[in-house]
Amino acid sequence: MYPWLRRPYTMPATVITGGAGYVGSHTVMALIEQGISNNEIVVIDNLSNAYCEQGDDKPTSLKRIEEMTGRTIRFFNIDLNDEPELCRVFSAFDVQCVIHFAALKAVGESVTKPLEYYEANVAGTISLLGVMRRFGVTKLVYSSSCTVYGEPRKLPIDEGHPTGDGLTSPYGKTKFFCEEIMKDVCISDKSWKIISLRYFNPVGAHSSGRIGEDPSGIPNNLMPYIAQVAVGRLSEVLVFGNDYNTPDGTGVRDYIHVEDLADGHVKAIRLFDQPGFSGFHAVNLGTGTGYSVLQMIAAFESASGRPIPHRIVARRAGDIAENYADVSLSHRLLGWRAVRTLEDMCRDTWRWQKQNPEGFKTTHKTKKN
Ligand code: UD1
Repeated sequence: MYPWLRRPYTMPATVITGGAGYVGSHTVMALIEQGISNNEIVVIDNLSNAYCEQGDDKPTSLKRIEEMTGRTIRFFNIDLNDEPELCRVFSAFDVQCVIHFAALKAVGESVTKPLEYYEANVAGTISLLGVMRRFGVTKLVYSSSCTVYGEPRKLPIDEGHPTGDGLTSPYGKTKFFCEEIMKDVCISDKSWKIISLRYFNPVGAHSSGRIGEDPSGIPNNLMPYIAQVAVGRLSEVLVFGNDYNTPDGTGVRDYIHVEDLADGHVKAIRLFDQPGFSGFHAVNLGTGTGYSVLQMIAAFESASGRPIPHRIVARRAGDIAENYADVSLSHRLLGWRAVRTLEDMCRDTWRWQKQNPEGFKTTHKTKKN
């Protein structure tokens, strides 16, 4: 079908879709730091949510990883729905496995742009799976979310909790639909090995302060919002409701350091090598401990040494009171547990925010001036 389908090269490679983004870039770093990386690291990203300086051949996040590690990352600016281009990459490397992050992730935006979300997240995943099948690549780690559980029926949430019920946003549904598609793929062909990692609330940044979360526009999520208040970009944190059935009335979440999360992906890849491992497996990645909005603000004040002005306002539509993970399966299956504390999460977020007050963009320019 494609002339380049013949496999002229035999360089073993790990493909990381969305590898220029927040969790993706930290996972690239972890793969290199932890020496899975005799393989080529091949990042596919359409730059929809990653900064790339004009004239540069790679997004800034990846360039910084290269600077820190001395390794070369192969980068391809490709949309997952562009199948011929995907095939080109798969034909140029001997792809051993794929870690699939590439997706749109703004919950509110997904309500107003459902087709864009289904196309990027669901059609993009189908395209990727099709190309993987064509090239005989059957090992996949998928970036999923605890959002697939909907409103928790019991806490902590384990992986046996029903998924797909009462999901309110197209974003959440795309994560659920992709998991269902992957389950069917694994049923149809026993050679597939798919690990779907259901993240709780990723926060923090690499301990170097050189890579971190760089949201475009005003952040939707709590931690980057707090960090931008601390650095003076935003004036105050709006606390969405203090009348929940939680110890201090504000929402409770299971925040997990992005470096712990990245380590979870490395552990998942290692599982592929275990004899007899096959099929679809969903695994929670969280700490198992919940913190409230007010606890997060207090922890960040102490990490940054700065006051964080905040004000209680009405609840945000669609929010739940409390959410935290049962993390026993991740211990059993992956041999992984989160080791970084809330203090680590706040300290590392603050280091990143302080060193890069405007994210990747301005700091890069400032350095040049
Ligand atoms: C949100 C998404 C979830 C997604 C996750 C990614 C919603 C409804 N859910 O989860 O699907 O997987 O991000 O990390 O958007 N809060 C404030 N003020 C703010 C921002 C947040 O008080 O300015 C509160 C929220 O009400 C919540 C907590 O902080 O209690 C955490 O919110 P957020 O960081 O947005 O994460 P989730 O809502 O848990």
